[in-house]
Amino acid sequence: MRIGMMTGGGDSSAINAAIRAVVRRGLEGGHQILGFKNGWAGPINGDYMEMTADLVSGILPRGGTILGTSRTNPFKLEGAVEKMTGNLKHLGIEAMICIGGDDTLGVAHKLNGLDEPIPAVGIPQTIDNDINGTDYAIGFQTAVAVATDALDKLHTTAESHHRIIVVEVMGRDAGHVALYAGIAGGADVVLVPEHRFDIDAIIDRIKRRRQSGKTFSIIVVAEGARPEGREQVVISEKTDAFGHVRLGGVAEYLANVIEEKTGLETRSMNLGHLQRGGMATPFDRIVATEFGIAAIELVEKGEFDRMTAIQCGTVTSIPLEEALTIRPIDERIFQMAQTFY
Ligand code: F6P
Repeated sequence: MRIGMMTGGGDSSAINAAIRAVVRRGLEGGHQILGFKNGWAGPINGDYMEMTADLVSGILPRGGTILGTSRTNPFKLEGAVEKMTGNLKHLGIEAMICIGGDDTLGVAHKLNGLDEPIPAVGIPQTIDNDINGTDYAIGFQTAVAVATDALDKLHTTAESHHRIIVVEVMGRDAGHVALYAGIAGGADVVLVPEHRFDIDAIIDRIKRRRQSGKTFSIIVVAEGARPEGREQVVISEKTDAFGHVRLGGVAEYLANVIEEKTGLETRSMNLGHLQRGGMATPFDRIVATEFGIAAIELVEKGEFDRMTAIQCGTVTSIPLEEALTIRPIDERIFQMAQTFY
């Protein structure tokens, strides 16, 4: 078969491990793989490269995506869907493998539903880990490892200076990165978008720690978290092609309020895109490899409009449509984090 592949939306580590698995398993199955460049811009502009074993050699641990990415939404650009389907048909593409988060997978789902459908399957990839129906998306584990490493480092400086440090992590409207890194990095407070937070309760917590002899505190806040009575803090209200504003700044906001209300020295830091780069963790590489192989198998079996998934340690697949609602954090794990307050 002639199979197309693309990577869209925010990048992460371990995408290349998935690309490598698709290409290696695809070639072994006698298929031809075309890699479209820069998200949906590739199929729209007919910009692609033929994937060879040489092209994917050595990319297993490397961050980013060798195909490039973008937040292009073909359904928001005049004439783009027609251009894209025309190109894919002209190139003889019989199936698309789409790697990305809910925006990319949403487009993949729509392709299957066109009057003249483009058969497509999805691979979940986002550091946010907010895709429904899968325990893990590619990139999440590495982002948690990066954030945990940062928390370990910030602990020593916070302790030496007797400061409060508020650390902002990504995740958009889900708190998975904040929660997992917060637990692994021993944060004193973890704030997630799923629960509005009460600033006075945080200050009480800091004071209680002081009374018990702990002169520093580390707070992890997800970029989408918001206090009671306030909306999310944004860098820009301008929305991207999928309707998302640019979140950012909640750590700085919170640090200012805490310092003002307590008189204690407080600093903030936003880990930002650091969380999306670097060498992928072994776990992410394994998940990505399993997903790449499973995606080719879905295509071979003609099981389209589905996404590869991991549920309770088993690789499986689910309808793409089911993947498109945001997966909130596990409340049990959130409660577990509170045990250490
Ligand atoms: O969806 C992945 C993500 O990293 C979010 O956590 C974050 O809000 C957003 O992308 C940032 O997007 P950009 O790379 O466009 O700044």
